[in-house]
Amino acid sequence: MTSTLLRGRTLSFLRWPETVDDHSAWLYEDDGGLLLRDDRIVAAGAYAEVEKKVDEGVKKIDHRPHLLLPGFIDAHAHFPQMQVIASYGAELLDWLNTYTFPEETKFQNAQHGRRVARLFLDEMVRHGTTTVAAYCSVHKESAEAFFAESHHRNMLNIAGKVMMDRHAPEGVLDTPQSAYDDSKALIAEWHGKGRQHYAITPRFAITSSPEQLEMAGALCREHPDLHMQTHLSENHAEIAFTLQLYPQASDYTDVYEHYGLLGRKSLFGHCIHLSEREADALSETGSVAVFCPTSNLFLGSGLFDYQRYRRREKPLRIATATDVGGGTNYSMLRTMDEGYKVIALNGEKLNPFQSFWQLTRGNAEALSIVERIGTLDRGSDADIVVLDARATPAMRLRMETADTLAEELFLLQTLGDDRAVREVYVAGRAAKTDMAV
Ligand code: GUN
Ligand code: ZN
Repeated sequence: MTSTLLRGRTLSFLRWPETVDDHSAWLYEDDGGLLLRDDRIVAAGAYAEVEKKVDEGVKKIDHRPHLLLPGFIDAHAHFPQMQVIASYGAELLDWLNTYTFPEETKFQNAQHGRRVARLFLDEMVRHGTTTVAAYCSVHKESAEAFFAESHHRNMLNIAGKVMMDRHAPEGVLDTPQSAYDDSKALIAEWHGKGRQHYAITPRFAITSSPEQLEMAGALCREHPDLHMQTHLSENHAEIAFTLQLYPQASDYTDVYEHYGLLGRKSLFGHCIHLSEREADALSETGSVAVFCPTSNLFLGSGLFDYQRYRRREKPLRIATATDVGGGTNYSMLRTMDEGYKVIALNGEKLNPFQSFWQLTRGNAEALSIVERIGTLDRGSDADIVVLDARATPAMRLRMETADTLAEELFLLQTLGDDRAVREVYVAGRAAKTDMAV
């Protein structure tokens, strides 16, 4: 048994903060303590109180004056796109055909998959992200590589082999049957092994035949506890092509609805151009809309209307994500900064407490894993990020005039990136390393 006592300024959320003065929405300790035992948080609160509970000789790590928060959660990213990120000049469908599909064919090679999985999770951790819902490539080996690396690090991650059987090059295609068989085998091998979660992952309606979406639906019925992740309503050309391919569907969401893919564990990337009917259908089934601001701006896809989705009569459950490599940064701080700007373009604001709620507890609730991660509550997994709001000269200078926690958080979001991440604990173990390519 290993015990560690962390000291620092702790911040963890209890619920959505309505305003910056909604103090009962969060727990903040100016001199806080977190007692970690093996992979769990076993005590949290004022340092003086937590310290009373520890034995002599417990390892103490003093992170003052930095902030200790639950590790960030990225609800949608593509690990095989590390060498796609920063590809110039295309909208979604051309971007997929020109850059993404050719790159993903390389993941036939298991060794390549293992290398990129290692580098991807290094990069996640360096940026303070301790959980990601990841798309692998179509190749079973890529999912094997991802889960093996994730399990080795004892990270709680959600991932799945992409199912895609048409409208892409031969090297990234499966069939309805092989997608089903490979997904079944991966579920049997990895789901529930340590902290690993399997997500049934049909890429999107364009690259899945009706027979394959049928298979995805069957997998969801056979494994109702699993996540399902796909893309929905990202770009106008994508929507038009989808409706051409599924002429019986009343709208894009109806395609997935028809195959039984909506539900509380269903994660729909983008959801930018939804009709009211589609938003109602997502809301009624408890499905999750995943906001990927850097990707939506980079690919020119559109502006996700976060506040309208939250406030509508039938509100949407929302998560936020990088969507690397359509997204342009691994950092959830950079992601929320761009998210703030997208929301501003819709004439609204997201206050800094709401932003940090979303990054932590909000995303954990949207992924239905808040019993394990997303807070610093006693009993929860010890996934923690240590943030330094004075990490760069410009941040240091700006901090001279920041008087409140709200200002500090907003500064971290606006100016921060991996440099602001001083340490990361994954299941109780310090895990930040420099990336070795
Ligand atoms: N739609 C289908 N596949 C993808 C992908 O890899 N990235 C994004 N942004 N959208 C998609
Ligand atoms: Zn995506």
